[in-house]
Amino acid sequence: MTVVRSSRARAVIDLGAIEHNIATLRRAAGVPVMAVVKADGYGHGAVPVALAAKNAGAEWLGVCFVDEALELRQAGVPGPILAWLLAEDDALGEAIDQDIDLSISTREQLVRIAALAQARGIRARVHIELDTGLARAGVSRERWQQIFEFAVSLTNEIEIISIWSHLACADEPRHPANVHQQDAYESALELAAAAGITPQLRHLANSAGALAHPDLRYDLVRCGIATYGITPGGDLPDAADFDLHPAMTVTADIAYVRKLNAGDGVSYSHRWHATKPTNVGLIPLGYADGIPRSATNAGWVTYNGADYPIVGTVCMDQFVVDFGDTLVRTGETVTIFGGEGASAHQWATAARTIGYELVTRLGERVERSYTDGVW
Ligand SMILES: Cc1ncc(COP(=O)(O)O)c(C=O)c1O
Repeated sequence: MTVVRSSRARAVIDLGAIEHNIATLRRAAGVPVMAVVKADGYGHGAVPVALAAKNAGAEWLGVCFVDEALELRQAGVPGPILAWLLAEDDALGEAIDQDIDLSISTREQLVRIAALAQARGIRARVHIELDTGLARAGVSRERWQQIFEFAVSLTNEIEIISIWSHLACADEPRHPANVHQQDAYESALELAAAAGITPQLRHLANSAGALAHPDLRYDLVRCGIATYGITPGGDLPDAADFDLHPAMTVTADIAYVRKLNAGDGVSYSHRWHATKPTNVGLIPLGYADGIPRSATNAGWVTYNGADYPIVGTVCMDQFVVDFGDTLVRTGETVTIFGGEGASAHQWATAARTIGYELVTRLGERVERSYTDGVW
């Protein structure tokens, strides 16, 4: 039996907005752009986003995991793809065969890649990630010299495409860590040069770096959140101020409506009580669909151009909205974010999270579809 899925809640992805945003980022940064499409294209669909981004001139695609890169290739996505977080059981041989660029953070990874490349009689395309102050992945500072010297000894097996790093505080342009990381990166490039490495590419900036730090753009910017038309947040202004358009609009159909009396409690634990007679509607989306539970008494929906608050606890599959005196009917559509509603960033902020989390955690029960609006 085939179960036909109801489209009670939908995410419409505007690929025209993705294309517009890539064009905007290329213009603003003035250097090639890597569209970051990890985590299923930040919840927007990795393959359609990758193809739209390439169509708009993105020179590179970036993902976190090798599997994500291989999925793009399997779907026929051409061109350079970088994967930057390797695991021991990754199909690295397959990745090399599929012309995937691999970023390394350890000598062991380099050894493994070099052996696989040698067995194939080809040179693997390698990027060396350095930890310049994020303390996440990347070769730590005391090992930079060693890794450069070791990489140079493998010239028959690997081609060093880039030496790169990742910023910790790019969304706070005045944070001293930005300067510290740039200084560290510059000294790493000097060390690399002394070891005989001139990388084809140097890259440090994510979206916030690309938008707010002209001196950190180097040869390539790796743009995730801005590709989707969402501000990185922090001290940076709204996406619209950068001429970035939100690509995702999430809507849902009202499942039930009811009238409440003054004093009636709503949803689990009665975290909200009606103070006067009112109309409420039930929206069939919950934390299993990616609506944060912290949107309890905090988020809102937009209906016919006006905003109405979520009242009471956000449950696994549903939440309640107070429509006040406005008469709504079962089956009518409300916008959660995007479109005529709030931006993902505004909505996420109200729920004490970030736009990144809101879009990437949207669940599988929310039907995705694509349009190609013209911006
Ligand atoms: C290494 C790396 N580069 C670039 C990005 C893109 O960041 P953003 O979405 O802030 O542009 C990420 C995302 O976290 C990342 O991990």
